[in-house]
Amino acid sequence: MSSYPALRLRRTRSAGWSRRMHAETVLTPANLIWPLFVTEGDAVEEPIASLPGVSRWSVDGIVARARDAAAAGIPCLALFPNTPSDLRTEDGGEALNPDNLMCRAIRAIKDAVPEIGVLTDVALDPYTAHGHDGLVDGSGYVRNDETAEILVGQALNQARAGADVIAPSDMMDGRVGLIRAALEDEGFVNVQIMAYAAKYASAFYGPFRDAVGSRGLLKGDKKTYQMDPANAEEALREVALDLDEGADSVMVKPGLPYLDIVRRVKERFEVPVFAYQVSGEYAMIEAAAAAGAGDRDALVLETLMAFRRAGCSGVLSYHALHAARLMGA
Ligand code: PBG
Repeated sequence: MSSYPALRLRRTRSAGWSRRMHAETVLTPANLIWPLFVTEGDAVEEPIASLPGVSRWSVDGIVARARDAAAAGIPCLALFPNTPSDLRTEDGGEALNPDNLMCRAIRAIKDAVPEIGVLTDVALDPYTAHGHDGLVDGSGYVRNDETAEILVGQALNQARAGADVIAPSDMMDGRVGLIRAALEDEGFVNVQIMAYAAKYASAFYGPFRDAVGSRGLLKGDKKTYQMDPANAEEALREVALDLDEGADSVMVKPGLPYLDIVRRVKERFEVPVFAYQVSGEYAMIEAAAAAGAGDRDALVLETLMAFRRAGCSGVLSYHALHAARLMGA
């Protein structure tokens, strides 16, 4: 009688009840934030070709999606506007309009589905004629301090419309502190800031730029403000600064290719960390499933679980509603 092997790690995996009992990580609908694209009009649904299964919705449709999300247990939505092209200008001034598409969508959701959180993106790219996140100078460089001032106005505009979480995605230096101070000044003490702290200049954002209509407009790239994919230490410095300036939580973006960053941020700072499984990642899963390279539902749930295992409190995912419904089933 051999005692080999004394320890069999397969023992606890040998039945479903036991696998469930030994799971180190749980994934629930509460871990999901659902990004939605808003467009003008009434009863409008515009499918996005590079993001199969995702549409832009007019405000009434956005409210219906908010109801779907709440029913599926999703705690929070992230909104992005597809600004009409005649309102896109050099300085992105439409971002400051209290009646812009974004503000109308926020108000409609908070009116109809007050129990769901609304997260809003702060950056000028859906509003500028050149597709950059800020003001560009004559050489095409995005001016930091002048942009940050406008972003403060954009954030206040969103908070006044009822946004719960302000999420600056522009990567300007110093903007989190300025936004926090302005929110406090206006009495928005419980409006949170989720900083896109470590946001990389990534090739995975293509379908998103189609969705907000900025792809064809964008001149050059965003490498002078978004991070170099080669860098990790710099991500820790970005996170440290944003926390110091008053961020309540931080985001890493894109998602799966940057799970090492999620893990390092979580271990170093012990704060809520979120990740954005971005449009190109969504499109890759859809393409793989369509090509028969993998089972869609299994790919979706496995990737979301990977974010949780890496240390994420939650994930922004275009698959959120589908995934939440799978979990609820
Ligand atoms: C805008 C912004 C982008 C995304 C979120 N906010 C695009 C960009 O920086 O060019 C990308 C999200 C996605 O690809 O799903 N600042």
